[in-house]
Formats: sequence, C-alpha cells, structure tokens
Amino acid sequence: MAGNGVFADILDGDVYKYYSDGEWKKSSSGKSVSIVNPTTRKTQYKVQACTQEEVNKVMETAKVAQKSWAKTPLWKRAELLHKAAAILKDHKAPIAECLVKEIAKPAKDAVTEVVRSGDLVSYCAEEGVRILGEGKYLVSDSFPGNERTKYCLTSKIPLGVVLAIPPFNYPVNLAVSKIAPALIAGNSLVLKPPTQGAVSALHMVHCFHLAGFPKGLISCVTGKGSEIGDFLTMHPSVNCISFTGGDTGIAISKKAGMIPLQMELGGKDACIVLEDADLDLVAGNIIKGGFSYSGQRCTAVKVVLVMESVADALVEKVNAKLSKLTVGPPEENCDITPVVSESSANFIEGLVMDAKEKGATFCQAYKREGNLIWPLLLDNVRPDMRIAWEEPFGPVLPVIRINSVEEGIHHCNASNFGLQGCVFTKDINKAILISDTMETGTVQINSAPARGPDHFPFQGLKDSGIGSQGITNSINMMTKIKSTVINLPSPSYTMG
Ligand code: G3P
Repeated sequence: MAGNGVFADILDGDVYKYYSDGEWKKSSSGKSVSIVNPTTRKTQYKVQACTQEEVNKVMETAKVAQKSWAKTPLWKRAELLHKAAAILKDHKAPIAECLVKEIAKPAKDAVTEVVRSGDLVSYCAEEGVRILGEGKYLVSDSFPGNERTKYCLTSKIPLGVVLAIPPFNYPVNLAVSKIAPALIAGNSLVLKPPTQGAVSALHMVHCFHLAGFPKGLISCVTGKGSEIGDFLTMHPSVNCISFTGGDTGIAISKKAGMIPLQMELGGKDACIVLEDADLDLVAGNIIKGGFSYSGQRCTAVKVVLVMESVADALVEKVNAKLSKLTVGPPEENCDITPVVSESSANFIEGLVMDAKEKGATFCQAYKREGNLIWPLLLDNVRPDMRIAWEEPFGPVLPVIRINSVEEGIHHCNASNFGLQGCVFTKDINKAILISDTMETGTVQINSAPARGPDHFPFQGLKDSGIGSQGITNSINMMTKIKSTVINLPSPSYTMG
C-alpha cells in the first residue's frame, strides 16, 4: 500500500514529506499542497509546500555530495543503480496505486510504467559503464603544420547539479529517465516532481533511498510553482536542467543561465496516410497512438492527414475500433479514463466546441462527465479550426482529408511543433522521401509515434524541444568533455 510498510517513513499524518540530505522531512512552511484525484475530483494526497530556504539547503547538500560522488568508481555507481532498479520493480504495486489515484493512469499501464522505469535504470547503469569508460586519444600531426608533439586525451566529466522536472503523465518514468543518466555520469540530482504525480515520484525516490545512495546526492522538493518554480530553475547552483512538459519549458529556457538544457515540450504528431496503406494497420495504430492514456502523451497521434480516396474507409475502421474502447475509472483498467484536471477537460472541450462551430463532422456525440471525456473522432477538420493545430492532450482526434502527399507534409511542417510524426504506406522509397521532408525529430514508418524503446534517441524540432534524450544521449548530455594534452619536447611517431 502507498505510504505504508517500507514507505511509512515518507508520510507524516496525511502529508507526504520531501527528501533532503538523505532524510524525509516536513517543510518549515507548515503548509501543504493538495493533489486532486482526477476521477473523484476530491483531494487524494497532500505534499509539503517547500520554501526557498529549503531549496537553498538542498542545493548546498547536492553540491557537496556531488564532489565525492564524482570520485566514486563507475562500477559502484552502476551497482547502486541496479539495486534501485530492483527495489523499484519490487514495489511496483504501491507506486502504481499512486499513479492510478493521482493521474488516473489505467491500473495495468501504471504497473508497466514502473517496470519500464526499473528497466530504464538498469540499462542506463550498463550503458554508462560502457560509454563513460571510454575517451579519445588524438595526435597533433593530423592538423596541417603540426608534428606529432602533442597527445590529447579526452574524457567525459560530470556537470555538477542536475535539476530534473518531469511531467504529470509519466511522473516516475520521465523522472528516472533524468535521474539515472545524471547519477551514472557522476552528477547529483534535484527532482521537482509535477504536483499531480508527486506522490508516485516520492515513492520512487524512496526506492533510491533504500538502495543506499549517499546523503544529499538525490533530493526531491515539492511545492507551489509560484513559490519555488523560478527559484529552482534560476538557482545559481544548478548546472543543467532536464525538463519535460508544456510551454513552461519555453519560459524556463529564456530564464535559465548559461547551462545545458534538455527540453521536451510536446507535439502535434501527424499521421500521414497514403492511398496504398494497410488501413487495418493504420486504424489500429490511430487507436493506440491517439487514445492510449486518453491521448495525454506528447507523442500521441494528434492529427490524421489521410488521402481523400481512402478517408471514408479509414474513418469507418477507426470508428469501429473506437466504439470498443472502454470508458471509466482507471481502477477498472478502462481504456479511456478521466483527464488529469478540470482545467484540462475544459480546454479540450473548448477545442471541441470550436470545431463544432466551424463545421467539423462529429463521428460520435460529444460526451463529458466531470473530467471524463468519451473518445471522439472529428472528421473533415479544416486548418481554420483550433484543433488542427493545438494539442488537446485528451481523447479527441481530428482527421484532415488531403488531396496530395504534399498537402499533408505542408500541414505537418506548418506546425510550431516538431516532435514525431508517422507515415503509412507500403512503398518504402516514398516513406523515406516523406520522412526526410517532415520537420520532426522522429518519423515512424508504419507505426504510431512513441518515445520507446527508451534507449532510442528522442528529440523534437522547433517548439518541441532542445537537445536529444534517450539513455545514451541523456548520459552524454549530462557530461562535458575534458581534455588533457601531453606536450612532448620533440616529435615522436609510434614505430617511427
Ligand atoms: O508525453 C511524454 C512523452 O515522452 C511520451 O512518451 O512513451 O508515451 O511515447 P511515450
């Protein structure tokens, strides 16, 4: 059970504690932040409202802990990460329970998120041991005008304190995708979980605590963005920020100092369907890609661009599958569960009403109860409708009928987002040409967009982000190259 057994330490009365200097603490603010269950719309949990002084303290200990962690052998760092991964997986049930209650993730998917997170941590430990154990050796005489008098040795060094800010939709998985690379690379880590998802994240952090990481190396502060948000992201002790979320990321990147940023800020992933596509395959992927976790994924299919000649047939197939989706509470493993908050549901409704006023075809009647929105396919959407461009982050999917592939590519590229996209065709040559033309970080051929497997590179163009994620890229991003140059008094050539 959440907050029980090995997790009893993290709870004080009905308020979850924050984690600083290797201990679970109550905030001196005496205040808490409530977490509303999206299904019941009642307060489910409470977390500490940390103060700026507490953030300062966390940063201080993170800086100290990082110095000795950087001197900890790589194999030892990996060993601790493997331990944390195993503990995380052992406690998948209580953590999944929090995900169900805080973010209304269907129960089965919640367990998958925790297991996937354990696997990610282990893979990261292994990858880190490999790639951080290697450097480069360069000689000077490859550059014109030089003799071989200089040997350059390069290695990857940690950045210092990494600030990780994951989003509500994967508060565990997108936290460990930042924590594990930071730690294996020798950094310390300060986590600011999303409020909705904070309790799942606190349980996950406790698994790292139980694994025995040094005091102060990992911290987790909770609280109001208005009080500690800017304070954290602009804190002089932060040497790197890894953020996943919405527009806030743009504001963070404008305010952050001269430090490396890793940002993933959403997408409007297009699904381009050609005339020769396997329409059953497309329909299955539209359902999976557009409606998993009720469309609350950055990589969800967010607009279908289908050739007019096959549009009727595709819409019919999608509607048939859509009618089989179950709608209801996450505890019952329904496919469509309440969206994360009332404001999110209102925003989705706004997009739907705009499309209605402008004449979109409703394939199903619009239905909403509280935060629960029934899955909806909107056909004959046109570019003057908001839903053609904005991310609903909900179970509502627009279909735009196109008369040429160029029209589809043009729509995809006119978006301010550029996360992923997908193209369905049996002609691989055409698919490659289209993929090359799409201005997105990834193009999936004959499958829905997705971040995983978690070691694949994951990046967005334009407003979708900065830098690249995926295990290897994140480890590299959280390090810097350091060179040592050995200068010889006279040229020396091996076997010369
Ligand atoms: O919305 C977060 C984004 O990273 C999606 O991940 O695994 O659902 O493709 P995934």
